[in-house]
Amino acid sequence: MKKRTALRASALIGTGGVLGFLLGAVLQGPSGMVETRALAEEKPTGALAVTNAPSVPSTNNGPDQSHAMVDVGYHFANLWFAADKENWPLAKYYLEETRSHLNWAVRIHPVRTTKAGGEVDLKGILQAIDNSFLSEIDGAITNKDTAKFKTAYRQTLEGCYACHKACEKSFLRPQIPSAPSVSILNFDPNATWPE
Ligand code: HEC
Repeated sequence: MKKRTALRASALIGTGGVLGFLLGAVLQGPSGMVETRALAEEKPTGALAVTNAPSVPSTNNGPDQSHAMVDVGYHFANLWFAADKENWPLAKYYLEETRSHLNWAVRIHPVRTTKAGGEVDLKGILQAIDNSFLSEIDGAITNKDTAKFKTAYRQTLEGCYACHKACEKSFLRPQIPSAPSVSILNFDPNATWPE
């Protein structure tokens, strides 16, 4: 099962692993020209390694990308525990919420510019993850396959981290969560109260 998942994923994303693929195919190295233009248009902000692409409007009046990502973390953490309790309808719910909040996050800043002036295509990275690992999770939920779910969940976390690294935020390292993000919901699929 594990082997097949890995094979299918690598068929989708090519050889060299998730990180290699995402960084190689999506993070485009700048040509001298791009770099010059990016440096000219960017206002360097010191500690901030990654800034918004010049074409992306300011989001000062709306929710920012990190806000959307906090939601992603919330839903994706709960997903682990829903599957662990074999509460498949709840797992399906949290997978869909994860997907829609990832899309929301990427819509806020579809492209980021690296320190060196390269462009990170967040939309492309997300599509690769959605078509491979998140689809694997979906299949595992449909088939109520806990082992397959856990493998796909870990691979997704590697995908999450690949994007964080591409965005020069390697300090945002995800892990298998130790507790659900919510305590007011009962994850037990056999709970009988409230009726
Ligand atoms: C397409 C790129 C991309 C993908 C995929 C991605 N992230 Fe992120 N994530 C980011 C970026 C960029 C930031 C930093 C946002 C900022 O600084 O405004 C971030 C930040 C975060 C944060 C920190 C939020 C905070 O401010 O406390 C968490 C948590 C997070 N991501 C979780 C995840 C999880 C879990 C996944 C996978 C299910 C994931 N991310 C997938 C790009 C991505």
